[in-house]
Amino acid sequence: MIQIGIIGSGAMGAGIAQVAATAGHQVIVYDNNQSALDKAKTNLEITLKKLVEKQKLTEQSSKDIFSRTQFATDLNQFKGCGLVIEAIVENIDVKQKLFSELENIVSDDCILASNTSSLSIASIASACKKSDRVIGIHFFNPVPIMPLVEIIPAITTDEKTTIESKKIIDNWGKVTVLTKDTPGFIVNRVARSYYGESIRIYEEGMADFATIDWAMKTYGGFKMGPFELMDFIGNDINYKVTESVWTQFFFEPRFKPSLTQKRLFEAKLFGKKSGRGYYNYAEGAVNAEPNKNEELGKYIFNRVISMLINEAVDSFYLKLASKEDLDLAMTKGVNYPKGLLKWADEIGLQTIYNTLDVLYELYNEERYRPSILMKMMLRDNKKFYE
Ligand SMILES: NC(=O)c1ccc[n+]([C@@H]2O[C@H](COP(=O)([O-])OP(=O)(O)OC[C@H]3O[C@@H](n4cnc5c(N)ncnc54)[C@H](O)[C@@H]3O)[C@@H](O)[C@H]2O)c1
Repeated sequence: MIQIGIIGSGAMGAGIAQVAATAGHQVIVYDNNQSALDKAKTNLEITLKKLVEKQKLTEQSSKDIFSRTQFATDLNQFKGCGLVIEAIVENIDVKQKLFSELENIVSDDCILASNTSSLSIASIASACKKSDRVIGIHFFNPVPIMPLVEIIPAITTDEKTTIESKKIIDNWGKVTVLTKDTPGFIVNRVARSYYGESIRIYEEGMADFATIDWAMKTYGGFKMGPFELMDFIGNDINYKVTESVWTQFFFEPRFKPSLTQKRLFEAKLFGKKSGRGYYNYAEGAVNAEPNKNEELGKYIFNRVISMLINEAVDSFYLKLASKEDLDLAMTKGVNYPKGLLKWADEIGLQTIYNTLDVLYELYNEERYRPSILMKMMLRDNKKFYE
């Protein structure tokens, strides 16, 4: 089994290391901050102990996983690695510098992967002389729990690297989907409408946060409403992702961020972790009750799900991924109750199209333009899954 190198021992790096060591690999974790490295080591010990207590691991396998994980303070220790996954700070200059340094240490056939959420893999790979072995391997937080991993070859990545990367991560028991090197990849692109359209409904004064959350859970079966979810993810992270996807798509109106969330971000009302976001999490705080009006609830659900499906349909049209992978990404990466293309078949493309068309006519905004693929499929009387 190849040796795995992990660079960055924060939330993501530590999680990836745990999963790799659990799958049986020798793992080396490096961080340029000694206290972060110490913390990752202590946390791994605590996590493994808890898993033994919960009888999810035997005492012996917990010991084996721990002893397979080495914590390094020198990148030269990565010499023998077959795959290195970078999970450091989200900054292109810092990542490029690391990759160009790394390629002089590892052997020529070592795969170099980045866990970046928002940077292009092509730009990271461009720092390397041998850029054909650089790829995106994007995990979701918390790594040991979330099954999805997006595999993202850059324009310069060779097929061997893509196939090998997918094979390794599949062997870790993860669900891999193959996608293109475009902003937000699959999940962080398609999920934007869940937040953006919900905020817009709120900003227009149609409903408050609690009512929109109630509508999406009641009529859509989502585990968390959009505002609960943004507060859970953190409005700092969620706002930054939205802004990054929007700017990278050359200011595409469908991804436009909202002033509502920007103000929360500026006021440091990040959500659960800061005690207040869209909701107040202080002890004894009273939050508004939803208005459980059926007609309003169904209107909200239809509008948000139509925007989500439109994004998934357009992503399929633009060959971002296969229909199966697009659906898997949303169910395994963000716990949606159904894949969006499967959902489109169930609701009926004509219904989705009509909802979008009414909005398009009403607002005269590009944001609501139905995907061309939807029009073609309606013309040909087609479904995604026959
Ligand atoms: N947190 C998430 O939900 C999430 C999900 C998917 C992907 N990502 C991506 O994963 C990466 C890491 O995110 P995170 O949340 O784990 O961050 P984090 O801040 O928890 O950890 C980053 C770690 O990298 C270390 N580091 C910074 N610069 C370094 C360098 N030059 N060399 C070595 N170590 C360095 C830091 O000391 C820190 O311990 C980012 O690219 C992020 O976009 C994050």
